[in-house]
Amino acid sequence: MDITTLHVDAGGGYDILISPGLLDEAGKRIKAALPRAKRLFVVTDSNVSPLYGARLVASLETLSFEVHTHVLPAGETSKSAENLVALWEWMTAHGVTRTDAVVALGGGVVGDLAGFAASTVLRGVGLVQVPTTLLSQVDSSVGGKTAIDLPSGKNLAGTFYQPDLVLMDPDTLRTLPDDVFMAGMAEVVKYGCIWDAGFFDFLAARPSRASLMEDITHILRICCDIKRQVVNADERDIGLRQILNFGHTLGHAYELAGNYTKWSHGQAVAAGMVTASRLGVELGVTEPDVPEKIESVLASLGLPVHIDCDFAHIEKALGVDKKNAGDSVTLILLKRVGTVTPLKLPRAEVLDRLAGLPGR
Ligand code: GLY
Repeated sequence: MDITTLHVDAGGGYDILISPGLLDEAGKRIKAALPRAKRLFVVTDSNVSPLYGARLVASLETLSFEVHTHVLPAGETSKSAENLVALWEWMTAHGVTRTDAVVALGGGVVGDLAGFAASTVLRGVGLVQVPTTLLSQVDSSVGGKTAIDLPSGKNLAGTFYQPDLVLMDPDTLRTLPDDVFMAGMAEVVKYGCIWDAGFFDFLAARPSRASLMEDITHILRICCDIKRQVVNADERDIGLRQILNFGHTLGHAYELAGNYTKWSHGQAVAAGMVTASRLGVELGVTEPDVPEKIESVLASLGLPVHIDCDFAHIEKALGVDKKNAGDSVTLILLKRVGTVTPLKLPRAEVLDRLAGLPGR
């Protein structure tokens, strides 16, 4: 098997392995990364379990691991405090020890919740991420952010806890619905925007899912390589890592406007990147041809480039409602495609500019 390997230095250091068919080698790879683990706690969801659960478990059992599986209902509502407690209880009932490991098989919801459970049960056990969506392969499975949602907002409780291994089988992307695949492409395009103009052009020349899948291992490698460099430089998200939020502040406003049901995270980020680049032009930071370039690539992938949104949602996403939000905001803007530039500005000025931006 031809395996692409990237090494992340953060945490104790770990590999990201990418290869079609890797799911069937999971047991062997986990044994090598976590030689002392006896019990593996597979956390997955009701969509992914029937597709890939049995294959993963078979591969783990071949290596004589004691395997336990917990299937969550698919969807964001599973990322709850109740399910976190349920995972802790489930693992302790099965005699989890510090050298055992959690294996998160699924998308971002499963990875975030299972990661949080792994980071906290017995004050931390092993963690293997096996992401099966494009969004989780290029973003959430790498870098160690774990979280649950609270009634007051998404991802409001969590930990930084790097996995011991990330296993990506690009073949798992074949069963994704089109809109879910393309939502992941918004984050892929983001990497081109903030870091690599050549990669952006490469994506622009592949406007269909079929053409992207022909080069999917390359695409995953480029994205994970960028994310790995950013995380190595700023694991705790206090500096450089914030560039990964390009398009996300406005994206959050759009998600909010759609009550988190009308627009997926990736769709909202797509429109958010367009608005952020138009705001950058307005501020004289971004070259004038950038919004059109980004719009054209996103539209060719069927992603939204504009989302109607009440200004109140934009104000909320910019922290107007938070007492301790301070007077300034850091915008993640582009100079040109491939070159990002964070810019701290007074909040009032940003709101003024956005209020005057046609079609924001
Ligand atoms: N998803 C952004 C980050 O990992 O920092």
